[in-house]
Amino acid sequence: MSFPIVRNRRLRASAAMRNLVREHAVSVNDLIYPIFVTHGANVLNEIPSMPGVYHYSLDRLEEEIREVVSLGIQAVLLFGVPHEKDAHGSSAYDPNGIVQQATRRIKQWAPDLLVVADTCLCQFTDHGHCGVVHVDQAKGTADVRNDPSLELLTKAAVSQAEAGADIIAPSNMMDGFVYAIRQGLDAAGYEHVPIMSYSVKYASSFYGPFRDAAHSTPQFGDRRTYQMDPANAREALREAESDIAEGADFLMVKPALAYMDVLRMLRDRYDLPLVAYNVSAEYSMVKAAAAQGWIDERSIVLETMVGFKRAGADLIITYFAKDIVRWLQA
Ligand code: PBG
Repeated sequence: MSFPIVRNRRLRASAAMRNLVREHAVSVNDLIYPIFVTHGANVLNEIPSMPGVYHYSLDRLEEEIREVVSLGIQAVLLFGVPHEKDAHGSSAYDPNGIVQQATRRIKQWAPDLLVVADTCLCQFTDHGHCGVVHVDQAKGTADVRNDPSLELLTKAAVSQAEAGADIIAPSNMMDGFVYAIRQGLDAAGYEHVPIMSYSVKYASSFYGPFRDAAHSTPQFGDRRTYQMDPANAREALREAESDIAEGADFLMVKPALAYMDVLRMLRDRYDLPLVAYNVSAEYSMVKAAAAQGWIDERSIVLETMVGFKRAGADLIITYFAKDIVRWLQA
């Protein structure tokens, strides 16, 4: 008896055939572009470890926003790089903080462009942690206090919504942060503003270039008491589950590349829009290798993006967003 050969190649015979049977694609509508905003005038500083990514002062931001809009990108994610830092991160919830000012401007220039505001304290605290730190001099210990941090994070979220942010994206990983922020937004009349929760955020070395960029490296200790252990996957389900119960509208997995299994698990288990954050070191590694001529940047990036989609992501936050749109148009 002869064994029948399975003719899988039939569906790969031509470009048209491959297009016809393609399962996943990246579209401009899937992309969220992160932008770093800072004080001062005429600031356009490239971040050394992230070529092509800049700090913008507000007077240099308009041009960038116009470019983003002209490419058809639907959303930007704002990160503030403030001048003033203190123990309580007060510039995170100052109505005239840098993120609030940038949000108001962007909504004037481009009312339809969605502004996603990252809600965290680490860029705004002098110690660089994502919450309030309690120092015990006698014991020589310092720890991040959960519930007092929630109050400040809620204030930050409300002030971002007041400034016009369309989506609040809390990245702090305190317990109960989605519930606290949801309550705060509702009480202030922002029931319609969704929360894109950084539900599954690992304590990762892939944030290194971002921390240089945002000057948010912890001055002591690390984030392992609030961010997740990279060795854990089931814990991601518990984090997602609690965020959904607390009122999250989007779930996120961060970083993305080393955590594709987690994206898939969340996609299989939950129905909310799922976001993959293609973080700073994932960007820097590609840029560095491409600059050496060791890899083809365009095809490596597009392959990675379709990989995120295949793993289950609906949306991708990526520093490559503008490049991707140009490549898709070409
Ligand atoms: C703030 C925050 C971080 C990133 C996004 N929001 C850094 C961190 O948790 O230390 C990292 C993003 C990136 O690496 O691109 N909490």
